[in-house]
Amino acid sequence: MQNDILEILISEEDIKKKVTELGEKLSAEYVGRNPLVICVLKGAFIFMADLVKSINVPLEIDFMAVSSYGASTKSSGVVKIIKDLDVPVEGRDVLIVEDIIDSGLTLSHLIEMLNNRNAKSTRVVTLFDKPSGRKVDLQADYAGFIIPDAFVVGYGLDYSEKYRNLPYVGVLKPEIYSH
Ligand code: XMP
Ligand code: MG
Repeated sequence: MQNDILEILISEEDIKKKVTELGEKLSAEYVGRNPLVICVLKGAFIFMADLVKSINVPLEIDFMAVSSYGASTKSSGVVKIIKDLDVPVEGRDVLIVEDIIDSGLTLSHLIEMLNNRNAKSTRVVTLFDKPSGRKVDLQADYAGFIIPDAFVVGYGLDYSEKYRNLPYVGVLKPEIYSH
């Protein structure tokens, strides 16, 4: 698995530091409140698990799985709900936890949906951000790392459902894609 990686972009240690930092900022933002923290599956599952350990306010968690229609690796912007939330968001302070924002299409649909369900507030934290890929005007409230427009894997992120368990984030060797 490690042999398929061309270059480590962000080390395990740097990710750890950044996640703790984000948790501290979010603890300050949500002090005195009880946020509903939503993990966007599957990519954000490791980030979510590490992040909530650094947020020291009482919180609840829930999971949501969405997918873009079509087989392309690029987002189509049409979001299909694979698994909806278990709890209502009405009146809640919602924190969406994303792995990576590229075009921003997936997230803009999610935010619209949560606003339609009358969330009290909606904030977004993403570990990785590719601003160069944006197709809609959308910014995360909290972003860990700005990364170049390369396809990355590891720390939850996959290529064809593999590499999610790598503890760092890296770029795949080009020959892996051509298999
Ligand atoms: P959009 O374009 O809607 O897409 O912002 C966000 C979703 O696209 C996936 N994505 C990636 N997945 N490596 C991945 O493993 C990447 O480099 C990458 N770029 C985008 C991801 O599922 C994200 O939630
Ligand atoms: Mg994916």
